[in-house]
Amino acid sequence: MKIAVIGSGGREHAIGWRLSKENSHKLYSVPGNGGTKEITENVDVSSNKKILEFLKENEIEMVIIGPEIPLAEGLADETRKSGIITLGPNKDGARIEKSKVWAKNFMNKYNIPTADHIVFDDYDSAIKYVEKVREDRYPLVVKADGLAAGKGVFIVKDTEEARDALNTIMVEKKFGEAGKKVEIEEFLRGVEASYLVFMDGEKYKPMVTSKDYKQLLDNDRGPNTGGMGTFSPSPHIDRALEQKIQQNIIDRVLEGFHKENIDYRGVLYAGLMLTEDGPKVLEFNCRFGDPETQVILPRLKTPLSEIVHAINEVSLEKIDIKWKDKAAVCVIAASDGYPIEYEKGKHITGLENVKKSLVFHAGTKFVNEKYYTAGGRVLGVTAVENNLRKSREQAYRDISKITFEGMYYRNDIAKL
Ligand SMILES: Nc1ncnc2c1ncn2[C@@H]1O[C@H](COP(=O)(O)OP(=O)(O)O)[C@@H](O)[C@H]1O
Ligand SMILES: [Mg+2]
Repeated sequence: MKIAVIGSGGREHAIGWRLSKENSHKLYSVPGNGGTKEITENVDVSSNKKILEFLKENEIEMVIIGPEIPLAEGLADETRKSGIITLGPNKDGARIEKSKVWAKNFMNKYNIPTADHIVFDDYDSAIKYVEKVREDRYPLVVKADGLAAGKGVFIVKDTEEARDALNTIMVEKKFGEAGKKVEIEEFLRGVEASYLVFMDGEKYKPMVTSKDYKQLLDNDRGPNTGGMGTFSPSPHIDRALEQKIQQNIIDRVLEGFHKENIDYRGVLYAGLMLTEDGPKVLEFNCRFGDPETQVILPRLKTPLSEIVHAINEVSLEKIDIKWKDKAAVCVIAASDGYPIEYEKGKHITGLENVKKSLVFHAGTKFVNEKYYTAGGRVLGVTAVENNLRKSREQAYRDISKITFEGMYYRNDIAKL
């Protein structure tokens, strides 16, 4: 089968890698990275229009859309119209990630537990609000409504920081249109977890649990990033809690989609805070997580292409999705200066010395038989062993074999 994976990150390399283990697919990465080049054909196009042209001209039969932006812009609507088997929701379903305000309204309507919040679409009222809030109610969380590549959320500890966040979003307009509305919400305490499911509009099947590390520095300090590491399974989610997540959150999302006539065929990702009062939703994503995918897919036994098929035909109920009873740990190597400013074009060495772990590339380029850095998050090393401790040790042993100038990674991933 001819299958295209849209996107260029570690997530997409992991998807391509998983597909490369199944049958004899002809695989394309659009646009892909240095790592996907080894296992798929990289196709250097990026706008939805060009992607669609490529898919049609090359008679691609299946497409897996990795990132949120093409989904929010309606790529899945178009590919479905063209008869291509598609993993990813249409534009109406992608609103659950595209607009945090839309998602909050949806959650309130369908009684899905989340942080209390208030929405503002003008700066003056937002400022008045934060100035009125008693200091002992801080920290608060200020969020830009729209897509901001993981940079639009600010945890503010006092009025001054709240003002700064509002200025960044609404006056400097750092996230453009995405910051036309802001949402100010209650700060939730607890442990974070990611809960992903495959959904076909009628049913869903859960993936294995995972946890990611958002902050740049050890012990969760420093600025938020796209994710510096992850592991699976999450020891914080036992059977009883998982049932609660399904009943109070995922079942209600599905019911809401039904009532709103949203035909959601893709991956739904719930970012959760496990609080004393039970699991609460921080946000939803309309796609696989990056880096969670790099620990989830190596544990998947059932061919991914079969799952995508079943989702397309709304027959997810009929397939049994199997997982390896193992633990996976992924440590991300970033370029010095990430997530703010960083250099590119550094030679990456030692990749050939990694024998046991999987190396998923993110910001890399393959030129003249050599790999170079080409992004902030450069690559991730995933180890899959019998338990988290072993996977953690293996991942760190293997990442230490790789070098590039300015290479940085956290040392506390999966240190529980
Ligand atoms: N209400 C909240 N309470 C505590 N922490 C939060 C809250 N909302 C977000 N966060 C923190 O900020 C991170 C990013 O927020 P999120 O809503 O997931 O937005 P995005 O991923 O789009 O940046 C979360 O992973 C979490 O660490
Ligand atoms: Mg998030």
